[in-house]
Amino acid sequence: MNLFETMVKHGMPLVPKPIVGRVARRYVAGESLDDAARALRAMNDEGAMGTVDVLGEEVKEESKADRAVAEYLGLLERIEAEKLDANVSIKPTMLGLKIDQGLCENNVKTIVARAAELGNFVRIDMEDHTCTDATLDLYHAVHEAYPSSVGVVLQSYLHRTTADVSDLLSLGPNIRLCKGIYREPLAISWHDFDTVRANFVYNLEKLLEGGAYVGIATHDRHLVWAGMSVVDRLGIGRDAYEFQMLLGVDPDLRKVILSAGHRLRIYVPFGSDWYPYSIRRLRENPSVAKHVMRAMFTRGS
Ligand code: FDA
Repeated sequence: MNLFETMVKHGMPLVPKPIVGRVARRYVAGESLDDAARALRAMNDEGAMGTVDVLGEEVKEESKADRAVAEYLGLLERIEAEKLDANVSIKPTMLGLKIDQGLCENNVKTIVARAAELGNFVRIDMEDHTCTDATLDLYHAVHEAYPSSVGVVLQSYLHRTTADVSDLLSLGPNIRLCKGIYREPLAISWHDFDTVRANFVYNLEKLLEGGAYVGIATHDRHLVWAGMSVVDRLGIGRDAYEFQMLLGVDPDLRKVILSAGHRLRIYVPFGSDWYPYSIRRLRENPSVAKHVMRAMFTRGS
């Protein structure tokens, strides 16, 4: 990280909202459902599928979790009405996980039940390590009721992930595998870049060999290559996995994946809570901070 990036990273809360907004435009579809539908249509036209995330932070009041459920139900209807090739991604803490696990389970089941009726699918995102056990319990419970309509996420930076893969394989699970985005303690997570990569590849092979459907979620070109090699070597059918990327990151890599004939899904966040989401993304990925600096000194980028 250079000095410029360090400055921007640590000064992030001081960066004016309109500046963050100009950078966020690349990573967030917009504030409204119309914006999300437009971004999904563009991705579908490119040949990619979508997964839509309604932006929001952890809720502490039940009424806010209820509102999130309603937003997701509206989103599922919109996807159906417009015949968009997209599913949805949800965050348990936005649906009440930290208020009460039972409440969260009911909320997730409400969303997954509607998705199942519509022939659609819900991905449960993985948050920080304080949520891992509860999120996997949630996945087990919802999977039992709607086995083909729900999936979960595993993070290759956690020590526990290989054991979690072993536990989940008997379900015939649908897993998004990613590196993991939170700052986790050294006692429970790999911090070395190469080890996180190696653990990604190890668990990817284990999942595919075990019959799981895998969303290979990465922009790391080495891992994209590794994913392509593993599916080729194991003779995995194109309908048993997909690559996944975030909106706005490395459009050239999107073309590489699609033109090689692999399926690709783009994670499309939208909603009025774009500001905290963008600040988090910028903090977590300091190399992106240079865009903030550029936006500060240029007009209309
Ligand atoms: P790496 O961080 O090495 O990045 C590779 C390249 O991509 C670098 O050049 C980097 O600059 C660029 N890049 C990566 N992320 C970028 C960004 N946001 N903006 C601009 N450039 C970027 N994590 C989690 O803990 N729980 C989850 O549920 C999910 N869900 C999820 C869904 C999808 C579809 C993706 C792609 C990722 C996630 N993640 C996630 C995030 C994931 O864990 C990880 O933090 C990021 O993908 C970055 O890791 P890479 O594998 O891309 O490698």
